[in-house]
Amino acid sequence: MKLSYVKSPEEKTKISPKGNKVVTKKTAIWTKKDLLGLEYLSKEEIGLILDNAKSFKEVLARPLRKVPTLRGKTVVNLFYEPSTRTRISFELAAKRLSADVINMVKEGSSIQKGETLIDTGRNLEALKTDVIVVRHNCSGAAAMLSRAVNISVVNAGDGWHEHPTQALLDIFTLNEKLGNVKGLNISIIGDIAHSRVARSNIWGLTKLGANVTVCAPGKLIPAGIEKLGVKVTSNIDEAIKKADAINVLRMQFERDAAGAFPSRIEYFKTFGITEERLKKAKKDIVVMHPGPINRGVEMSAEVADGANSVILEQVTNGIAIRMAVLYLVTHAKRENA
Ligand code: CP
Repeated sequence: MKLSYVKSPEEKTKISPKGNKVVTKKTAIWTKKDLLGLEYLSKEEIGLILDNAKSFKEVLARPLRKVPTLRGKTVVNLFYEPSTRTRISFELAAKRLSADVINMVKEGSSIQKGETLIDTGRNLEALKTDVIVVRHNCSGAAAMLSRAVNISVVNAGDGWHEHPTQALLDIFTLNEKLGNVKGLNISIIGDIAHSRVARSNIWGLTKLGANVTVCAPGKLIPAGIEKLGVKVTSNIDEAIKKADAINVLRMQFERDAAGAFPSRIEYFKTFGITEERLKKAKKDIVVMHPGPINRGVEMSAEVADGANSVILEQVTNGIAIRMAVLYLVTHAKRENA
């Protein structure tokens, strides 16, 4: 069945020197059963997800926001850490694609009795599910699970490592607001050290040609981060001044961010995004935050709810991005197939 709302590789016709027509594929073909991180994707694969998300966003604007793409498939949301946006938007994405959805958390499951991640995954596979969307506090957990099962694994955030669908929805939102991220100045501000969102954004944005700056107190800047192709500063005004967009990260107090500065009030005074600070920025600067926001710590309520903020648009775009990812991993042209 040809699905009009999903993107397949575009064909491009060229004339060879001998005058023959040569048809070449322009965009990437999705071959991966999993989405583990943006580090492992080419810019063409990132483009394929973004293109599909655009089509799925059109589906979501219809009066009947549902398509049969994943009818008969089952998606399990396996969350070892709390989540509002990611878990609910994966559930909505799967339901909009007509998949069956099971939500599984530690509490009330056999994880509480000590069952391992791999055993849990293998049992979910034995139950004939098709995709495991996993959030875990350990970096590398999604990759470990993907090696243990033949069904698809989607990383919904693993420790400090990656949160690929968050970065994809951030980039999608930037594309909507600013056209294309290539050549834009994007500053990522806040708890870089503990942030999987920062790492995925850095991989994605640099592959797509953006100029990325990271800004944080010294203790929250990981050693060697500049090797990923980013500029580093602890001067917030410098990070804001030339930025087309800022992505302001949550202080991860549960992961020891509090030890990096004397108090939350002092952090807000030195690094917090306020209307006063934004007066020194470009007038149309795009203000993003992956959520949840610590209002009065990373940014003021006026900025979070202000005219430059696209924070709730990011949340909405998360559904289309996750529809695209679920579609692609379940329709992958497997390399060994
Ligand atoms: N941005 C994000 O991952 O939010 P949740 O923790 O609520 O899923």
